[in-house]
Amino acid sequence: MRPAIYAARRAKLRERVSEGAILFLGHAEAPRNYAANTYPFRQDSHLLYYAGVELPDKALLLAPDGREILFGAPVTMDDIVWMGPQSGLAELAAGAGVAATEDIARLKETLAALIAQGVHVHYLPPYRADQAAALSRLLDVAPEHVADGVSGQLLQAVAQQRSIKAAEEIAEIENALTVSAAMYQIALQSIRPGVPEAVVAGLMQAVALSLGRQQAFQPIVSIHGEVLHNTFYGNLLQNGQLLVIDSGAESTLGYAADLTRTFPVSGRFTAPQREIYEIVLRAQVAVIETASPRVTNRDLHFVAARTIAAGLKEIGLMRGDVDEAVQAGAHALFFPHGIGHMLGLDIHDMEDLGDAVGYGPGDERSPQFGLSFLRLARGLQPGFVITDEPGVYFIPPLIDQWAAEKRHDAFINYEKLAAYRHFGGIRIEDDLLITADGARVLGPPVPKSVKDIEEAMGQKSGI
Ligand code: GLY
Repeated sequence: MRPAIYAARRAKLRERVSEGAILFLGHAEAPRNYAANTYPFRQDSHLLYYAGVELPDKALLLAPDGREILFGAPVTMDDIVWMGPQSGLAELAAGAGVAATEDIARLKETLAALIAQGVHVHYLPPYRADQAAALSRLLDVAPEHVADGVSGQLLQAVAQQRSIKAAEEIAEIENALTVSAAMYQIALQSIRPGVPEAVVAGLMQAVALSLGRQQAFQPIVSIHGEVLHNTFYGNLLQNGQLLVIDSGAESTLGYAADLTRTFPVSGRFTAPQREIYEIVLRAQVAVIETASPRVTNRDLHFVAARTIAAGLKEIGLMRGDVDEAVQAGAHALFFPHGIGHMLGLDIHDMEDLGDAVGYGPGDERSPQFGLSFLRLARGLQPGFVITDEPGVYFIPPLIDQWAAEKRHDAFINYEKLAAYRHFGGIRIEDDLLITADGARVLGPPVPKSVKDIEEAMGQKSGI
């Protein structure tokens, strides 16, 4: 992005947090098993948002007198020998529209001088142990008191600002979705009986890597879609199974895509699979049609929940009054998660800031099973990007527990449910931009209707 964009973001933040200093700590490399063998580096998203700096061991300080300083270590010859030529601090600062640079070795004394003058240093909640340790050291605060010093004002300001995506951010997300669509294309062509899940996962990753991209999160490519965050890829695909793929690429600037599709391994849905699939699709489309700044995301969750409960009632798995069943939380046996979350630089955008992002003032998460996993409940606003990802799952241990307790048996037909014990799960997900009067599905289309999926799977490539 242009330096002026980062400068404008910081200026806007300063309108909301006008006093004190603001400190954004970038990430250090994270060792896998010893210091020099690291996980792929991913910068802290707040530093990416306010400065676009993608290299490790950097920090951004916004001083109360208007000075903006990018801290980092000077590039050494050892760095160049082992890692190749890299952008120096001045170049990084120029790219962010930041005027001053300093050796990161001087950050502690710079902060100490500010604190000695009575300046308050605002910082966000650390979510990595090394960030917390760095804050403890830099601010001379005992590790157990680092959390006490988190700035609620900064947290709220960042949450509000990053929630509204600008046009250039939407373009990044759509770019990530374009790569993701290509990943799904190869999946559609490679799924068939006898193929390992790992091959489908690997081919999708190869598409991302070949286009110079990382994946935004560890993908789900599983015949056990009923395990919501299943990242095991050790099964062989077999006729009659469903494969849930929940996956997404990152854009070059770190914005995420998050897409889910459920494909029949044989290329054709069985009759019961098709029935459940159509229920989930109806819920997913109902959310697209309802999403707008006139509703909350909690409303969307209930639109999906009622659509699912009504569909399951039609096929005899649920019974009774649909609204009452949903109010009681009976649908959560089948749909035990929230309808979606914000999307942006993070796959669950700003989840590190907690429920300040997803819940408005005075609003709290429900403790009810299922609803308690609703990450975003607040009123939608133009510029929000959210995921729409309903699902229906048959989770044997959960079914057994509820059946033994006769939980919600006025609304659930446990006898009929026995036939679905090994069904697995179905989830369908798109990413939506909330507009002035509705919502737009972002990215290129990825086959979603039964007809489109079966047609696309009929065109095997022979991979
Ligand atoms: N796509 C993974 C998740 O939403 O948690």
